[in-house]
Order: sequence, then structure tokens, then C-alpha cells
Amino acid sequence: MKQKGLLYTGKAKSVYRTDVKGRLIVEFRDDITAFDGGKKDVLVNKGSYNAEVSAFIFGYLEKNGVKTHFVTMLDSKRMVVRELSMIPLEVIVRNVAAGSIVRNYPFVEGTKLNPPVIVIDYKDDSRHDPMLNDDLIVALRLATRHELEKIKKTALGINRLLVKLLALQGITLVDFKMEFGRAGRTIYLGDEISMDSMRLWDRKTGESLDKDVYRFSKGDVMATYDRVAGRITKKMVVKAKPAKAEPERTPRR
Ligand code: ATP
Ligand code: TYD
Repeated sequence: MKQKGLLYTGKAKSVYRTDVKGRLIVEFRDDITAFDGGKKDVLVNKGSYNAEVSAFIFGYLEKNGVKTHFVTMLDSKRMVVRELSMIPLEVIVRNVAAGSIVRNYPFVEGTKLNPPVIVIDYKDDSRHDPMLNDDLIVALRLATRHELEKIKKTALGINRLLVKLLALQGITLVDFKMEFGRAGRTIYLGDEISMDSMRLWDRKTGESLDKDVYRFSKGDVMATYDRVAGRITKKMVVKAKPAKAEPERTPRR
């Protein structure tokens, strides 16, 4: 597959056309930004960690019946994806109160949200991604009611799968953001699921294991990304039970 011209460059990724119909290349760059681009840096290898985690998670979701745009990795930073017509929604699922809902509503940080809360923002940096509701989404013709129901159901299903996966590694999935897009009449999960788009807390220590380390200068961002990428993508070693000692057989005569 050949990489062709640049289609779009965002805050952390660049999207390229390819010589294959319906396929794009997403390059995960080393740029990191927070607070609407108010804080920016370049962190060497950050793109590779996010690409690796996204690819692993998309693969896991596909195995569990979720339709994602992931096709394959070309190298550590470049992912081949199905070309989607993106729906400009940031679909956020929250299992624990943190971040903007604590700033904007009277939630105490750390409060469990059961059932999980879905928040949908309008992806428009010039308007600072305002929160939407179902009626606004339909009135703005961003999605039909039927599509919206499908997106919410899929988002909750993805949340259940990720909570389970991360819990195995001692990580709490506090909240995360998804983007969906259309190819024909089918809706796929697009964009990325990585340390930039999930809020992750260590179950034992409560330590942040995601972009909050960068947002709030909580420590060494790259050391955190390195550790958490290792934990998430680690092959689960299922410990085999030691075989019971065979009772000694008395030889037949
Ligand atoms: P934000 O950081 O707020 O998510 P951005 O546009 O700056 O916004 P980037 O991640 O840098 O985000 O850019 C990637 C862009 O590629 C996004 O606009 C995203 O919607 C788009 N995109 C992701 N997956 C696909 C896909 N399969 N087909 C087409 N576009 C995609
Ligand atoms: P949120 O609490 O709304 O914003 P902030 O992190 O600024 O307090 O974020 C909820 C989750 O969604 C968090 O895991 C980060 C992710 N997210 C993105 O990946 N991109 C975005 O543009 C936004 C608003 C959130």
C-alpha cells in the first residue's frame, strides 16, 4: 500500500490518502496538547505508545463483535484504517465522576456512576466542543434517532468490554471518548482509544495513568505511557494449575 497526500492534520494525528480505495493511513504523531491546544509539547515516541494501545484495543473489540475502522499497522506509528465519513460527535462514557463533569456539576470526584453516564459533545474546536442532547443532534442532522440509539448501545457495549479488559491489569476505566463514522449505511468505531482519550486510574494507588499526567504536570508522562501501554497490551498469562500427582500405579501382573 502506498501513502498518498495528506487529507487532514489534527492536533495529534495526521490522516493520509492511499492508493487503495476506501483505505486511509492514520499517523499517530508525537504531539500532545491539552486545554483546547493551550498547552502543547512534542514527546518522543508518544505516538507509538498510543498507536500500539489503540491497535490492541481495536483488535480486542473486533474479536468481541464491535465494528471498528482498524485494518492493520504499517509500522509503530501508522495505522491503516477503513475510510469513514466521520460523525462530529465526541461520545464519552463515564464510570466514575472526574474531569469536566466534576467542574461543571455537583459531583464529588471519584463517585461511581452506575449505570455509566453517556455525555455527547459536538466536535467543533471553534465552539469549544459544546455538550449536545438527542434533540440537538437530530435537529443539527448529525445523526438520526435510530443511529443515535445504535451509537449509544455500541458505546455502552464497548465500555463493558474495556472495563473488563483493564480490570484484569488493575486499572479502573474512569471515562473515555469515542468517535464514530459511516461507511455506506454501517457505523464503525473510528479515531483512537488510547491514553490520550481514556482516563485511567491505578486500582490500588489511585495514580493517574493517562493524559492527566500531562494536563496537570503530575509526573513523567512518557514513563507513565510506557508502563501503561505495557500493562494494557500484555498477553494474559493464564497460570496452569499444577497437575495433580498421578497416583502410583501398581503394575498389572
Ligand atoms: P481532537 O484532538 O479533538 O480529537 P483533532 O481533529 O485535532 O481533534 P486528531 O486525532 O489529531 O484530532 O485528528 C484525527 C482526525 O481524523 C480526526 O478529525 C478524526 O475524526 C479523523 N478520523 C479518525 N478516524 C478516521 C477514519 N477512519 N476516516 C476518516 N477520518 C478519521
Ligand atoms: P472530560 O472530563 O470531558 O474533559 P477533561 O479531560 O478536559 O476534563 O473528558 C472525558 C474523557 O474524554 C477523558 O478521558 C478524555 C476524553 N476526551 C478526549 O479524548 N477528547 C476530548 O476532546 C474530550 C473533551 C475528552
